[in-house]
Amino acid sequence: MTAAAPEPKENMGRPEPRIDANAKVTGSARYAADFMVRNPVYAYLVTSPIARGTITGIDDSAVKTIPGVLMVMTSDNTEIPGPFEFFGKGGSASTSMKPLESKRVWHDGDIVAVILAENYETAREASRKLKIAYRAEVPSATFGSLGTETVLAAKTDPTFQDAKAGDFGKAIGEAEVTIDAEYGTPTQHHNAMELFSTTAEWLGDHLTLYEPSQMVTTLKFGVAKQLAIDPAQVRVVSPYVGGAFGSKGLTQRTALVALAARKIGRPVKLVVTRDQGFTTATYRAETRHRIQLGASRDGKLTAYFHEGLEVSSRRDDYKVGGTRNSVAMYAFPNVLTQVSIVRADRNTPGFMRSPPEVPYMFALETAMDEMAVKLGMDPVEFRRINDTKTNRVTGADYTSRSLMQCYDEASKAFGWEKRSAAPGSMRDGDWLIGWGCATATYPTQMSPAAVRVRLEEDGHILVQVAAHDVGTGAYTVIGQQAAEWLGQPLAKVEVQLGDSSLPPGPVAGGSITTASVCSAVIMACTALQTRLLGYSGRKAMDGLTGDKLWAVFDAKGLTTLEEYAEWTPKDAKPGTMAAFKNGGTRISGGTLKDKTMFAFGAEFVEVRINARTRELRVPRMTGAFAAGRIMNTRTAHSQLMGGMIWGVSSALHEATEIDKRSARYVNDNLADYLVPVNADIGTVDIILVPEVDEAVNPAGVKGLGELANVGTAAAVSNAAFHAIGKRIRELPIRLEKLIGA
Ligand code: MOS
Repeated sequence: MTAAAPEPKENMGRPEPRIDANAKVTGSARYAADFMVRNPVYAYLVTSPIARGTITGIDDSAVKTIPGVLMVMTSDNTEIPGPFEFFGKGGSASTSMKPLESKRVWHDGDIVAVILAENYETAREASRKLKIAYRAEVPSATFGSLGTETVLAAKTDPTFQDAKAGDFGKAIGEAEVTIDAEYGTPTQHHNAMELFSTTAEWLGDHLTLYEPSQMVTTLKFGVAKQLAIDPAQVRVVSPYVGGAFGSKGLTQRTALVALAARKIGRPVKLVVTRDQGFTTATYRAETRHRIQLGASRDGKLTAYFHEGLEVSSRRDDYKVGGTRNSVAMYAFPNVLTQVSIVRADRNTPGFMRSPPEVPYMFALETAMDEMAVKLGMDPVEFRRINDTKTNRVTGADYTSRSLMQCYDEASKAFGWEKRSAAPGSMRDGDWLIGWGCATATYPTQMSPAAVRVRLEEDGHILVQVAAHDVGTGAYTVIGQQAAEWLGQPLAKVEVQLGDSSLPPGPVAGGSITTASVCSAVIMACTALQTRLLGYSGRKAMDGLTGDKLWAVFDAKGLTTLEEYAEWTPKDAKPGTMAAFKNGGTRISGGTLKDKTMFAFGAEFVEVRINARTRELRVPRMTGAFAAGRIMNTRTAHSQLMGGMIWGVSSALHEATEIDKRSARYVNDNLADYLVPVNADIGTVDIILVPEVDEAVNPAGVKGLGELANVGTAAAVSNAAFHAIGKRIRELPIRLEKLIGA
């Protein structure tokens, strides 16, 4: 075993290499834009250079003279027939802003035309020659801009309530020690390596879409609605996805490309450019926070106030809403929270890896460190004193919570006991050393899932579900679940994902895939065994695995045996499965009325800040995580390590800069949008903490895809404070913020 493939401990599966590894490294794995279609037409988007205003004229005379240009689609000749229903209002679209709907421009980079041509270069050239005149208005860019509107999230979404408990006002008034501070997180874009793309091909009335997607079932139903056609006419194919992180949902382009293909009578392929991806898909909303904490002198928290403000678009109230979960983190007896949306002239933000937790836990975990400092208490001990087995807001107990085990294991491995508490007291030559820590967390969520498992006479086992492997290892862990349950070698199992013609699978979001699909795999495998048991005349299921399973199969003279199973989470509302099968994303879990389910981690970071230049380096990090059953220690390690690296990225590197005058993104490319490179990341030590939780779901899995990038930014900023004694409350932490301490 190596560090990348840790030895399994209790309740952990083998570190099997990814079953799709060969296909990926040899180039035989086909990503959406790799699919060949016959005689394709190439599309190129034309996007708005202004953020607010109206199109006053379109002149395509220069375009028409370019050989190979086939069509210019604008609001004059194009109308997508069905509605764009925003998911925040019960639909599935990432925005209600239907492209080419009118002459109105809603944000920078709004789609204003589509060029169709015989090849990509011609379409691109034509996009430069299309003349569009605008009447521009002064846009509102962000917090503090003139013309924004602020609305309470609870008013925009009746299903959202601001969490509260006890009497915050009284408790903060009586608290012996208090802190009151403001925090901020920037706009960030997913920037998956794989660009957004859509290829649409009609065969008669039937549409096939090749598109990198984390929700093929929802996309099928959603696009059908936008095109006003029967969902049975649509198939979405997306076997491999080159990174998604929340960005590959139902964005604006899909219906447009499908419509283009129908109009022109040929398949149409669109690969969106990197910069256009910044404005035609979603992103992480910019947030501001005010936190007040009250505690007794012995370190018991008595009061927690958290106000969140989040930038969204003019048309859609996308809500991050991290307070629902943050209130469950510690034993807060008195809680008051309020979330507001700030509408600006922006494209609509959306999910990005750990959407609520990343900004809200940055604020809370920095505030926790500030309070520990004020109390003169070790930050780990402060969290131990305030550890809880109950969400005080709902009164519901945790099914399991291993936060302090994570702190104990990670602090030991990190060497935390050697830390001297005073800021600036640890030094190595020119380098001021800071050690900081923070809590990582993610709610345990689930979706319905349907799975088909087939046994074939040559020993081959096929598992089919329209779930997705967005780089996480889903192919492998789903295969492992079937192999383990049936007692078969993994090499005999084939897994098919990412095609809407397969049984409906969950969205690859909310870290739900492993828990949901593995629970359904268990159901389907059990159904197969029950059927074989019936054929065998045996009474007990015990041991109907391995060769015994095939012995019954052969004795009955079978060539194939197939079972289909639909699994619904226990806590799901009535009608959930039916809604799910019609394309509805139905995610439940986390903070429920009668139980609280979260995965946890503890992260420790060393920073070194140069005493003269203020350059900041992160030579090492240690994280310990508990997330119920770990299906595969290799893929889990990879997800957690990648998460912590992204955490450093959100602490130090990533921010989409916006020009406040024009409300336009400035650094919409991978040269100016900073992400860490190898030289930015030192040692990342990942510890898997055993945890058994049979209450969460039949698979016992909590999910960890979005766990480890939560809290990291706070751990880095807490470490920076420890190094130089300056508290940085706004991300990213860049050189200029470290000067003057
Ligand atoms: Mo994830 S941001 O829930 O796709």
